[in-house]
Amino acid sequence: MLNILFVSSEYYPFIKTGGLGDAVASLYRAVQISGDNAAILLPGYKALTENIVEVIEDHAISIPFSVVLQARLKKVRLRNHSSLVWVLDCHQFFHQPGGIYEEIEGREGHLNTLRFAMLSWAASQLACGNITNWSADIVHCHDWHTALVPLFIKNEVQAKGLSRAPATLLTIHNLAFQGHCRREYLAILGLKDFTPDHVQSENSFSFLELGIKHADRVSTVSPTYAKEILSEELGCGLHEVLAARADEIQGILNGVDYNIWHPQTDKYLAITNYEFDAGARLKIKMLLQRELGLKQSANTAMLSFTNRLTHQKMADVIIDIIPALMRQNVQIVSMGEGQDEYVDAFRKAAKAYPGQFTYLEKFGEPMEHRIHAGADICLSPSRFEPCGLNPLYAMCYGSVPVVRATGGICDTVCDASLSNIENGTANGVVFKDASEADLLGSIERAIRLYEKPDQWAKLQKNAMNSSFLWQRAASEYRNIYTDIGCQKPVEECETPREHVPDIPFAPLLNAVGQS
Ligand code: GLC
Repeated sequence: MLNILFVSSEYYPFIKTGGLGDAVASLYRAVQISGDNAAILLPGYKALTENIVEVIEDHAISIPFSVVLQARLKKVRLRNHSSLVWVLDCHQFFHQPGGIYEEIEGREGHLNTLRFAMLSWAASQLACGNITNWSADIVHCHDWHTALVPLFIKNEVQAKGLSRAPATLLTIHNLAFQGHCRREYLAILGLKDFTPDHVQSENSFSFLELGIKHADRVSTVSPTYAKEILSEELGCGLHEVLAARADEIQGILNGVDYNIWHPQTDKYLAITNYEFDAGARLKIKMLLQRELGLKQSANTAMLSFTNRLTHQKMADVIIDIIPALMRQNVQIVSMGEGQDEYVDAFRKAAKAYPGQFTYLEKFGEPMEHRIHAGADICLSPSRFEPCGLNPLYAMCYGSVPVVRATGGICDTVCDASLSNIENGTANGVVFKDASEADLLGSIERAIRLYEKPDQWAKLQKNAMNSSFLWQRAASEYRNIYTDIGCQKPVEECETPREHVPDIPFAPLLNAVGQS
């Protein structure tokens, strides 16, 4: 049995801005079920601390950056939640108003650097057994927010002359977010980078780059994305750093938590218990049409778009084809926040096409379930896609995804070509180029299929029968854990101590009330 410490910025159902929260919570559960001794450390955002029902352990910690920061590490029980979690509690940093990644207005963008450096440092201490008598064999870090953990552990090993250290795995859920900050932060955080020549630029570094270089192993959330990020096109400036470790980068496909996404048991649906019953599906669709003020019509293809309105999700291309789509017998139900100009365009479309186009700005979990259960086609195109959970969720309910062949989509969705429909492998409609013509063409192809009830039923059935189990992912991760976890010998590192510059975050500390 291994001791595994997960560290993440998001954790469903308490903190979620996207797929990261879902993936971490589900994988954590799957790893626990598979018998390992797993713990998780999370930032003490308000949505988390207000759900604490019992504090089991409470440790005051002093974080030794160039200014010492005070915080508490608490092991807690959360409301209606069976797993215990560790929380890094520091209201000044994690209870700021606005979204969880929002910087304090007028400041220079340092808050997130400090927040996630604190989280990473706390994880390194917990993992090394400096907080309690529990220590980790493996620290499993998720995304840039936690990517400094490997380097903090190496620094700890060197400072204390440890002969054993926890091994580290960094999972990249989205390479586009890297956590850039000014180079002097390394010294401010008390960190020595043992490979200083490789940093992306002279004046800055990114958490993710350091994570990729210092973690014992790196993974990402699908096999195809694992290959794609080695290329300049999709490597987001890190392709060379990644390519240098190509043999140690693995793609493990995410799963779906079928306790949450299942048409027979879904607590958010007015009608449940449908295996594949077109009648029940139709009722849900009509209820949804009524609820959202759309024209009630059984035969109108209902298209959903429940992604963040971003360039990654091709929101701009969707906007360009709205007029062409609205000339056909279709309805669109869209939901999600995003970039201002896209939000504006979606608002305008809702005004221009009442009863045919609806837009809910605020993302809501229950509504997402009802949309997947009622809509016929799930639009989920992406310019790049590490895994892509949205189309997988839609498939659970027989909503057929229209997606672009990139990243995890290539590992999950099989195009409805005639031969694939015949041989029973088709579960969606896939297009190639991130262009208006290809997107519109594939949506129209999906609509033509929708108009042929027999073919459509087959496609829906295949989508519903597609299975993406977290247990499979957990057992692949376990192979990595056992590979790297056999108390690797600690490397000798030699670097000069860096000069600690003036503290640029003093005004920030004032602003959050820690000075
Ligand atoms: C990120 C990726 C998405 C992936 C999710 C969970 O949100 O963009 O593709 O499914 O993380 O790993």
